[in-house]
Amino acid sequence: MTKKVAIFISGSGSNMVSLVNSMYRQNYAWPSLVLSNKTCASGLTKAKKFNIPSVCIEPKKASGLDLDFEAEIQRELKNYKIELICLAGFMRVLSNSFVDSWPGKILNIHPSLLPKYKGLNTHKRVLENGEKLTGCTVHEVTPELDSGRILGQATVPVLPNDTVETIRLRVLEKEHILYPRTLEQFCLGRSDLVTM
Ligand code: GRF
Repeated sequence: MTKKVAIFISGSGSNMVSLVNSMYRQNYAWPSLVLSNKTCASGLTKAKKFNIPSVCIEPKKASGLDLDFEAEIQRELKNYKIELICLAGFMRVLSNSFVDSWPGKILNIHPSLLPKYKGLNTHKRVLENGEKLTGCTVHEVTPELDSGRILGQATVPVLPNDTVETIRLRVLEKEHILYPRTLEQFCLGRSDLVTM
């Protein structure tokens, strides 16, 4: 049976699009729900074009623990019989109890070569530190931020005239290849690290 996947977004949803296209092509899993925490997320329109059920649940609190928000998410996940969650540019930290209720069943893509540059503003920090190499990482989500088991990693060079925006675009291009590839391996039960 192919796993039912929910993709969580907050913005443009370009990773969501690449995941959906890959699942449709390869059939290793099924995109069953797109969930956003922002009504303005343009990725919601993209999900509608795919005819994938989409929901927007906005938290009442700007940050921190919001039990009503998470309870509503859990209800939707149950409603759509979701088995696996892919965070794809979802800019809201989920509580420990939420993460613990989905053990080994939440994946995330982070725009750096973890364990380096956890958290926000990764490209800015990469530039400031004069790194020659950066990239992106797909990992399991655990209560500790950006620290779960690494499943896939892709590198990109940092070039002499790079800006935050040029690096962001170069990394994003790789994200669109790495995330589907890693999700496929994960769904097929293969534990080898995916590298690019
Ligand atoms: C990606 O760079 C992802 O790594 C980060 O947020 C961005 C989301 O982009 N967490 P998109 O919404 O998939 O276009």
